[in-house]
Amino acid sequence: MASNLIDGRAIAAQIQLELTVRVAALKARGVVPGLAFVRVGEDPASKVYVGMKEKACAALGLGSATHILPAQTSEAELLALIGQLNAAAHIHGILVQAPLPKPIREAVVFSAVLPAKDVDGFHPVNVGKLMLGDETGFRPCTPAGVLELLVRSGVKTDGAEVVVLGRGNIVGKPMAAMLCQKGRTANSTVTICHSATRDIKAHCRRADIIVAAIGVAEFVTADMVKPGAVVMDVGVNRVPDATSNTGTKLVGDVDFKNVQLIAGKITPNPGGVGPMTIAMLLQNTVRAAEAATR
Ligand code: GUN
Repeated sequence: MASNLIDGRAIAAQIQLELTVRVAALKARGVVPGLAFVRVGEDPASKVYVGMKEKACAALGLGSATHILPAQTSEAELLALIGQLNAAAHIHGILVQAPLPKPIREAVVFSAVLPAKDVDGFHPVNVGKLMLGDETGFRPCTPAGVLELLVRSGVKTDGAEVVVLGRGNIVGKPMAAMLCQKGRTANSTVTICHSATRDIKAHCRRADIIVAAIGVAEFVTADMVKPGAVVMDVGVNRVPDATSNTGTKLVGDVDFKNVQLIAGKITPNPGGVGPMTIAMLLQNTVRAAEAATR
């Protein structure tokens, strides 16, 4: 890979290799970490994501069970399933794939997962622990993966100006909370930009690190990036593409081709942040199994 690329696949593979030791230690005590997936409805992207996560569990030797519910499932039915999974001793982690069909309230569902099994880090207890800098909580997988990529690529966050594009609960807000904590691998000055920000370009131009999680195809263009800045692309956007068989293709939130020319470091997309989300999910699940069986 070119020298300024942050290879998410290689770093995720390294993390999974490190986890094999912990999984073997658990197995020696008769414990197989178990992760339950819950998918409601037939959202095509969710099907792909859950499928990839299931495969990663199998490759690491974790147990997984996927519960697929019809789109018409009521919130009460979903909560009943979560209650069963909360009570199941062989299940150490529960992941309810978002987005959930309306009228199911995601906040209610995420709050129903036991915090100790909340390997997504979406329960208010874990969100609160993240804000407080309490490391006993679970951290959301995608921003945790971005931070791990920065640390393992030798990017200094300490004192860095970081712009996080997007204020969602899954990436933007927890990303900002992680980077502004006190600590050598945080200590950043963080600006969150969103749809009501007046001059996003001006904010981005002075950033040492940009985390793009705004959900707009190729939003970050080269003129928005300070030469040498680090650019992390969280986006997954489907756009029309006349040259592909399907008529569409996936692109990130960064105009990769042009931004790559001036960035100090940049994540490819695919092959950057995506594999790290899965690696962090596996890590959280192994940790949940260790904590539950200590
Ligand atoms: N949808 C998009 N990202 C995520 C994630 O990290 N976890 C869950 N549960 N749903 C998602």
